Amino acid sequence: GTKEGCGAGDCGACTVLVDDQPTLSCLVLAAELDGREVVTIETEHDPRVARLRDSFLAQAAFQCGYCTPGMIMAASRLPSGIDRDAIRSALAGNLCRCTGYPKIIRAIERTLRRTGRDAAKP
Ligand code: FES
Ligand code: FES
Repeated sequence: GTKEGCGAGDCGACTVLVDDQPTLSCLVLAAELDGREVVTIETEHDPRVARLRDSFLAQAAFQCGYCTPGMIMAASRLPSGIDRDAIRSALAGNLCRCTGYPKIIRAIERTLRRTGRDAAKP
């Protein structure tokens, strides 16, 4: 599922989580990951990634889908309380060649809002 776009740290398509931090995998050697946790778009057990996957599908927040894994992984560690402008800034390093940004930002915003509501429940 993880995509290589530029291979040079410029597009964000290859974003994965390394020890829970969004990381550009094209800039990391496999040997550097020895003993570290790697979560990708295909990791089933991560609830934040799963919610974003569902939300992107529900909102049809993609066209070709090439940027989608990186967008989701980068968004998966954003705090639930941030607003639209902060989401845009946080994802400034993730490029969509299809210019589908409005739906992408909306899908992330709705997911974070729902996560915040769920966290507030007793
Ligand atoms: Fe573009 Fe890694 S492939 S940042
Ligand atoms: Fe095509 Fe983003 S949906 S690159």
